[in-house]
Amino acid sequence: MRPAARDVARLPAHVAIIMDGNGRWARAKGLPRTEGHRRGVQTLRDIVRHAGEVGVRYLTLYSFSSENWSRPLEEVQTLMLLLKVFVRRDLAELVSSNVQVRVIGERSDLPADILGLLEEAETRTAGNDGLTLVVAFNYGARNEIARAMRSIATDIAAGRLSADSVTEATIGERLDTAGIPDPDLIIRTSGEQRLSNFLLWQAAYAEFYFSPVLWPDFSADHFDDALEAFYARDRRFGGLKVGAEV
Ligand code: FPP
Repeated sequence: MRPAARDVARLPAHVAIIMDGNGRWARAKGLPRTEGHRRGVQTLRDIVRHAGEVGVRYLTLYSFSSENWSRPLEEVQTLMLLLKVFVRRDLAELVSSNVQVRVIGERSDLPADILGLLEEAETRTAGNDGLTLVVAFNYGARNEIARAMRSIATDIAAGRLSADSVTEATIGERLDTAGIPDPDLIIRTSGEQRLSNFLLWQAAYAEFYFSPVLWPDFSADHFDDALEAFYARDRRFGGLKVGAEV
């Protein structure tokens, strides 16, 4: 770990990552796209470990978006398989390294075996209080917001909630990320500069860091580069910089 990356006072509490570029990494090496995803899981393991060592409290990873179902069947099946293998192989280590797993995304249309594994990961790590690893799986921010709105509308219709009492906090509490602070830093790899339906509500004041590195090549060192870039930002949350009032 580079010492400069470990600035405890300014460390982002929550880092979210759009892990992009697996397909291009594979193509550049003449390998099938699925091989890029396999290598991407190794990077994921390294970054989870590193983020925990640095002292980040929450790490959210965009692992499968609700739009990813439109990919070729073989690729969707590989991503599902990789998730299964990841939970089966890595859950014991996550439990023992005090990582708490939270899953965000639409659960209702997930295959039963996948849902079971995700729930097992959450249950077995529920008592941990180290890094919280937020796995965005079958996740789409508009879907998440629509589900929150439905739950609010249902409560209003049933007389359990008054329309006037709905605040930003009411909405935040009904998102999948309830109880998790908003991301301070969102990293996207592979040079793309889009949010792609990721954490739309929660990203209101996030800093963005776009890395040209393809996800399978993204290392702890690259993660530290993102932290250093974050420290150099001037976050004002819509207010004025301290000392700039005059
Ligand atoms: C983007 O690369 C990446 C994804 C669609 C999924 C990210 C998934 C992993 C890192 C592995 C899955 C791990 C688990 C635990 C489920 P891309 O295919 O869009 O790359 P491209 O833009 O170069 O084609």
